[in-house]
Amino acid sequence: MSKKLGIGLVGFGTVGTGVWETLNRNFKLISDRSSVQVEIMRIAVRDINKSRPEGAPNDRLTTDWSEVVHDAQVDIVVELIGGTTTAFDIVAASLRAGKPVVTGNKALLAERGKELFALSLEFDTPIHFEAAVAGGIPIIKTMQDSFVGNRIQSMVGIINGTSNYILERMTDAGLAYEEALGEAQQLGYAEADPTLDVNGWDAAHKAILLATLAYGFTIDPEDVYVRGIEMVRGIDIDFAKRLGFVVKLLCVVREHDNGDIEIRTQPSFIPGSHVLSSVNGVFNAVAVQGDAAGESLFYGRGAGKDPTASSVVADIVEAALGLGHEGGHRGFLPYQKGGKLMCIEDTETPYYVRFDVNDEPGVIAKIAHALADAGIGISGTHSPVNPDNPDADFVDMVFQLHTCRFGLLKETLKKIEQLGCVNSRPVVFRIENL
Ligand code: HSE
Repeated sequence: MSKKLGIGLVGFGTVGTGVWETLNRNFKLISDRSSVQVEIMRIAVRDINKSRPEGAPNDRLTTDWSEVVHDAQVDIVVELIGGTTTAFDIVAASLRAGKPVVTGNKALLAERGKELFALSLEFDTPIHFEAAVAGGIPIIKTMQDSFVGNRIQSMVGIINGTSNYILERMTDAGLAYEEALGEAQQLGYAEADPTLDVNGWDAAHKAILLATLAYGFTIDPEDVYVRGIEMVRGIDIDFAKRLGFVVKLLCVVREHDNGDIEIRTQPSFIPGSHVLSSVNGVFNAVAVQGDAAGESLFYGRGAGKDPTASSVVADIVEAALGLGHEGGHRGFLPYQKGGKLMCIEDTETPYYVRFDVNDEPGVIAKIAHALADAGIGISGTHSPVNPDNPDADFVDMVFQLHTCRFGLLKETLKKIEQLGCVNSRPVVFRIENL
């Protein structure tokens, strides 16, 4: 006999609509497979008069999320509004009411997961968050369940669909950054406020969640190094191409021999021959290296209505199946008292650095001199002439640098900035020889 359960949805935007449509379209399939019948009983929205898709359950709408959480017909609460304040109150109230939560809110869990997972434990009520990382790719359950027997050595991934889409459109269609971002917003990939997509934080929040599951301790976002794609320009993409690389916003999580965890997010040059270089558009991919499983690659759509709804629906069914059972995992149970993050200054890669310099004699020599003084090797340098403005006073000058400590590079770049021939902060990309 099927178990009948009521869902309360908080947020009926792109993903909420996708959840509603998927549950309707595949109702029989879901109930045949899982023996649960789930129905959306209440939906909290910001604007009740907004036009909605045909057939939307307008009679179940309210503007008060607490009505949804405390409705007796609601057994499971799905939080899809994003943000870290009201969303926190909704999730906390649901857990206190003993109602399992399904959320796709990576910012909330990365920033305030410690408090919420503690509440989850206290009230013996789970939080499911498959949709929080990499859209439709089932990477959270993989980390929680399938890889439970592995020591995770590294996870390297492209986990923000919006920035990956922007980079691809800049690369293949030569679009300007703003134009490509506008397209990503139109397609429903970007967050309501796309700042977090392009400044690297959406990807970093996801990397924090993956690292938390892999290493068993909560990570303070303030300790994590994050750079976004806002400063990527056509010239960088062209250079990468010329050198056999592709520009990607890459998250790197790695356990070092001394137990330190390296975690960082930044635009990077990755070899055009590596499988991650062909992850384009809204697609995401995470390469996980486990001591038992070896390398596994997870690939799929990282954002958008239906792929994200796929993960939310899977979590709803899991929550429904778990209702009434005590214990089980609650999303995340810290199993390490603490762990140590590697200081970003101690991380090492080769680099590509773009300087905006005054076009005057001796500039290359001055920069090269400062690098040589620091013991940083140069593997290549170039200064393309702007064909539209060959006599410009300012030019871009790029340097490819050999592997060195990031801390040393930062100190040296500061010194170069003081030489008087550089007009703005140098732009640094990591070169990842994956
Ligand atoms: N804005 C996010 C992205 C959505 O572009 O990846 C999925 O988390």
